[in-house]
Amino acid sequence: MWTRYVVIAVWILAAGPIPGTLAQTKTPGKTVWSGVYAAEQAARGEEPYKARCARCHGAALEGTEGNGLAGRDFMERWREDTMQGLFEFVSENMPYARPGQGRPLIGIPTYLDIVAFILSKNDFPAGTFPLSVEGLDDIQIQYKDGPRPLPNGALVRISGCLTGAGQDWSITAANDPVKTRTSDTTDYPEFKAAEDAPAGTRTYKLFNLGFLSSKFKPENFTGARLMVKGNLIRQADSMRISVLGVRKIGNTCP
Ligand code: HEC
Repeated sequence: MWTRYVVIAVWILAAGPIPGTLAQTKTPGKTVWSGVYAAEQAARGEEPYKARCARCHGAALEGTEGNGLAGRDFMERWREDTMQGLFEFVSENMPYARPGQGRPLIGIPTYLDIVAFILSKNDFPAGTFPLSVEGLDDIQIQYKDGPRPLPNGALVRISGCLTGAGQDWSITAANDPVKTRTSDTTDYPEFKAAEDAPAGTRTYKLFNLGFLSSKFKPENFTGARLMVKGNLIRQADSMRISVLGVRKIGNTCP
């Protein structure tokens, strides 16, 4: 009886804040509003932006062949991610070109200048120090009023304990969903972040486990600590993950 009350209490606590779930709460957080680039760096980025990016993204970042890189479009794509994610995407994929070209196509300092220019066009304030490759991971991209709930369907990572049987599997003692860019589970820094994440109080129902290789048998991982990647589906009273990738973090949990 006693345990049942505890379970219900935990369920209520976990269910309460779901509609407003925050993506990731890194404290104390630096954000794009903290002055993370220098004004002269952004000014320096204008010319290479015009030469290498404007053709597809517009001279005023309004978007032509490629997406707009300022305002709402930009924020909706990048919010709740870090500058690391944005910088990696740009330096590994832009200027957009057929695969097979060596990357990066432009020197890293110039990429930093260009990204600083994009930040300035999004009205994020300049600060004392230039944007540099160190610490990009600690800068959250978010609206001025703070993080907002991740939209339904967002690609996320969670970590927690696998519980269940038959067709019915959940991850319990899990943390808040963290936005991710790929369903690949082999990226080491990301795996490490999942490993280091403290146990939480959330429960996620897993579905589409059949998507994984038939080699993945959840029975073999009962009670293990897993990192799960997939699309977040938020429902009135629960959160689900449509699973795209799973990796074991530890044999015991939490
Ligand atoms: C030949 C056209 C082309 C050029 C040149 C180009 N891009 Fe792109 N860019 C695209 C396309 C197409 C996409 C969408 C691809 C995707 O999302 O995977 C894109 C996506 C992006 C995105 C993500 C979209 C978003 O909403 O934020 C960013 C950021 C970006 N480009 C920055 C740059 C920067 C910086 C440069 C210059 C160094 C550049 N691009 C040059 C075509 C281009």
